[in-house]
Amino acid sequence: MPPKNSRPDRYALVGHPVSHSRSPLIHQLFARQTDENMSYELIDASPDEFETAALGFAAAGGLGMNVTVPHKEAAYELCRTHGKEAEAAGAVNTISFSKGRRHGDNTDGTGFLRDLLGNHKQEIATKRVLMLGAGGAARGIIHPILGEGPTELIVANRTIERAEALLQKLGAPQGLSICRFNELDDVEPFDIVINATSAGLKGEQPPFPTSLVNSDTFCYDLAYSLKPTPFVVWADTNGAGYAVQGWGMLVEQAAESFKIWRGIQPETKPILSTLMKVAAA
Ligand code: ATR
Repeated sequence: MPPKNSRPDRYALVGHPVSHSRSPLIHQLFARQTDENMSYELIDASPDEFETAALGFAAAGGLGMNVTVPHKEAAYELCRTHGKEAEAAGAVNTISFSKGRRHGDNTDGTGFLRDLLGNHKQEIATKRVLMLGAGGAARGIIHPILGEGPTELIVANRTIERAEALLQKLGAPQGLSICRFNELDDVEPFDIVINATSAGLKGEQPPFPTSLVNSDTFCYDLAYSLKPTPFVVWADTNGAGYAVQGWGMLVEQAAESFKIWRGIQPETKPILSTLMKVAAA
């Protein structure tokens, strides 16, 4: 371990916008918990600025970066080598820099599964799962969900061409199908419904058929907010058994990035509870 007064190892989050991000607090709490000497800063870079910002941070001695909206696909292109999940998603949320190396991982899927299976005690194996949305957020978690062996996974999207592109990119794996929202009208309620659209971020709630959920359905919103998100309100109003936001995934994907960078798995439960208290204050 380096002496306490040595300069901290530098990490950052790059995105646009990033000022609202809770990642610096989460990584600061992980560092304190594990006694690691590191700093974590925010870099706001537009799509035009992303590559210069990322390479500049590495040249200045930065050891790793998290990448958020809208740069995850550009980060995939920037990296020379990729982990398995990043390769499957074509998107990177964790870059490791060292000696000219640029390696990209994607920890969103692991973060999602740890939260859903570990924290919320749900199962995906032999369940029917519906994913609403086919953008970047959906991309990172589809492959890990399929790895759990659901009976079926349907990806429904407003723009069918985008869902088709996603299906193609994944090599049309068995068990995965796509449709438009209005083709869900006559479908039986699902065991798990995941909202991966960004509609709620704009305060919108698409008119999903209410028949998608019943009292056994677990609804998971990848988005998170201090108030119930529009999707959580929709799920509660329409009789879903459970409806949760993605705060746990936020902490779990960060923990997985921290482990990649520092080789230590931080304990997430106390960090999630501190985060919720700080966020609500
Ligand atoms: P992210 O990277 O966060 O997933 P994105 O790539 O812009 O963001 O994808 C946003 C997703 O939310 C897409 O599936 C988008 O649907 P389209 O492909 O049809 O654009 C979906 N979305 C955003 N606003 C929506 C709305 N008002 N109603 C329905 N779907 C919406």
